[in-house]
Amino acid sequence: MSKVEPTLERLIFNLNTLAELGEEITSPKAFPRIIKSSLYMVMGSFLASKGAIFRYDQAKRIIYPIASKGFGDIKELTIKLSEEVVKEFVRSNNPVKMIDNEQAVKMLGPARAELEKLGTRVIAPLVVKDELLGFITINEKFSKDEYTNYDYQLLSIMAQHIAFSIYNHSLLLKLVHKYNENRRLYDELRCSYYDTIHAFAAAIDAKDAYTKGHSHRVSAYCAAMAREMGWSEDEIEGIRIAGLLHDIGKIAIDKSIINKASPLTKNECRELNSHPVIGYEILSKIKFPWNGIPRVTRSHHERLDGNGYPDRLKKDDIPMGARIMALADAFDAMTTDRPYRPRLSFVEAVEEVKENFGRQFDPHVVRWFFSVIRKEILGDVEHPSIIPLLQERLDRVTINRILKDIP
Ligand SMILES: [Fe+2]
Repeated sequence: MSKVEPTLERLIFNLNTLAELGEEITSPKAFPRIIKSSLYMVMGSFLASKGAIFRYDQAKRIIYPIASKGFGDIKELTIKLSEEVVKEFVRSNNPVKMIDNEQAVKMLGPARAELEKLGTRVIAPLVVKDELLGFITINEKFSKDEYTNYDYQLLSIMAQHIAFSIYNHSLLLKLVHKYNENRRLYDELRCSYYDTIHAFAAAIDAKDAYTKGHSHRVSAYCAAMAREMGWSEDEIEGIRIAGLLHDIGKIAIDKSIINKASPLTKNECRELNSHPVIGYEILSKIKFPWNGIPRVTRSHHERLDGNGYPDRLKKDDIPMGARIMALADAFDAMTTDRPYRPRLSFVEAVEEVKENFGRQFDPHVVRWFFSVIRKEILGDVEHPSIIPLLQERLDRVTINRILKDIP
């Protein structure tokens, strides 16, 4: 090893290179580009004729090139390393001279011959937190001069920079892998969650011979209104789920009461009207990822004028989600057949909503609801969700005529 002192110009040049290397490894460029330009900076600092950066694969105990210059195509090259070689390099964590050096023979074992075939003169390990990540190798200088002590020190510093870059990149890959894994698990969980909720909705609707699909339609109407009102995706999801579950309390009500075609007695009416509270009690025990589902369920039969049930809430005391659901629920009840009457036409249903404007239904919610319907009919909504669920086909002229006086 030569002990020639570096000139001032060389020191300044190398300090600049180190600063550039620091910038390079923290840049947002793609990792292969960072590694390649880091190798070029190393080679440029020593005017080395050839060089490579190898990555160590711990599972296979091999090294393979991730960047190289001057060798042609060596992408397929792999060099086997013994456990002892890895341990030695982690322990020493310093560049090693390859030619005429007994230490290299001892440290590298059979791997030395492979590296010699490439003409490697110096090999510097890339180590972070006692983990071997790879190596930088450089061949002889263009000038044929020997590598000096200073060169070894400089290479050691550069190797540390590059090692951290590889370490950070592998951390990022692990994070991405973990994220993808968690995402997959979350999606699976979400699917089974939805399956369960849909099964509940089907069980609720199955109790009522006339309301098949009611919960799904209410859910879709609520989500469409919430979207029109500018709710966040998360809030929309919450009210979609609430729509599926809003009548869950009916599970506890006698089937004969739900399906009775003649007027209900006072007691039967009281029993049927207890379903929002029963639903609230069931859903309060479930930890939902969305807020407000039990409250919306409890209040979906409240009216703006305070004549609803179970709490006789008025106006703003009724949660907005429940005001949306009250309209969706009533509108679906009007436009589908019931045990005691056939369904109303769309025009008749709109008239009934208008009559109860401000008394049963929140005027803002009514406006949003008909605004979505109008947009869906005019083709302004990419995926219509209300119109396809209605039992009659509507045209632009009819809809404009019916909805023109919605305030
Ligand atoms: Fe209900």
